[in-house]
Parts: sequence; structure tokens; C-alpha cells
Amino acid sequence: MRLFLDTANVEEVRQASPLGVISGVTTNPSLAAKEGIGDLGSYKAAVLEILQLVDGPVSVEVTRLDAKGMVEQALEIVRWHPNIVVKLPSTMEGFEAMAVVVREGIKVNQTLCFSVNQALLGGIIGATYVSPFVGRLDDEGHDGMAVVADIVEVFKRYNMSTQVLAASIRHPLHVVAAAKAGAHAATIPLKVLTQMAHHPLTDVGVARFAQDWERAKIKV
Ligand code: G3P
Repeated sequence: MRLFLDTANVEEVRQASPLGVISGVTTNPSLAAKEGIGDLGSYKAAVLEILQLVDGPVSVEVTRLDAKGMVEQALEIVRWHPNIVVKLPSTMEGFEAMAVVVREGIKVNQTLCFSVNQALLGGIIGATYVSPFVGRLDDEGHDGMAVVADIVEVFKRYNMSTQVLAASIRHPLHVVAAAKAGAHAATIPLKVLTQMAHHPLTDVGVARFAQDWERAKIKV
């Protein structure tokens, strides 16, 4: 089980990378926009900075909606760095673009995946990752994690090499459930990573150990 950081914020990657648990980063146009990024040039600048901090795949999403435009953007984006993975949406146009770029040897992260059927298409095409959006499915009253588990099961049954990357992770319990469902990876916001590290009993225990140690030192 690998963890990716879900952000376009360089400072967040700088904060998380010393923990040694982040194997990659995923970005999308909304996360980029949150950082004031509105064109491919500044998207590239942020991604190159992120790539200096993380030795692993960094997913960058296309912004064009037509297959031809997506392919053009994908071919440009992968030239930025060898660790780039191109994010393409689970649409008819996206699958068409995927078929072209996968043939070119480009690594693809199939994004905005909400069903086993969509994942199956990406798996057959040969996407490197498929990203089911757990939180957004939950928001609509569906069981997002059940979709993750079903995709894992189907890919296993057919020995498909596409990795399941649980996305739209909103809280630490999502991470546990993704791990139990057999997801190869989960992409998580920094807030969730921080929550994973935290336990109130650890805080109490650390304080008590420090206190007892100080008391013992005084006695000696
Ligand atoms: O990786 C996709 C993810 O960022 C979407 O998350 O919280 O916007 O549904 P969210």
C-alpha cells in the first residue's frame, strides 16, 4: 500500500516528504486553481518544484476535453520530467486519448472514475493507475469504498496490471478501508496524513514518559 499526497501546494509536499511515507503526488486543475495556477506554464513550474521533493510519480491532469487536445497536452506534459503521469478523465474522449498515449508508452492515471465499468475500460487500455473517487461517491449516497473493492477484485481476477489508486479520500477511516479493500495506493490530503499520525493516547503517553523521566532525574 503506497500513499500519495493529493495537492498542488509545494509547501505541503515540503512538509510531508521528510516523513518518508509519500511515494508520489497527485494534482488536478481544481487543486492547481486553489494555488492560483491558471495556465500550463505555472502548472509546470509548481510540478517541477514538487518533483524536486518527491522521488516518485507525479500526476498532472490535462485540461482539454477533446481526445485530440488531450493527446496534444499529454505529449507536452510528459516532456516536463520522466516521473510525470498524465491524468485523463473517464470519458469517451478520455478513453480515446488514453488508447493513443498508452501506445506511446506514456503512464496514465485514469481519473474521475466512479464505476467498475469505467475502471474496466482503463484497465483494458492499459492505464497505469485508475482513480476511483471515494468521497465524491459517498457524497452522492453511494458506497465509494465498495467500488474500490470491486475494482480490485475484478483486476485481480483477470491479472490486470492497472493499479487501483483510491482518491477523493476525506478522512483516516477512508485510508484504512482502502488498505483493507486491497487498493494499491491512496492519494490523501495533508490534513488526512496528519490525522493518520495523530492519536490522543500517544500524546498522553509521550507527555507522561517525559514527565516521569524528568522526575527520576531530579531524584538521582
Ligand atoms: O485526487 C482526486 C481528489 O483530489 C478529489 O478529491 O475531495 O475534491 O473529491 P475531492
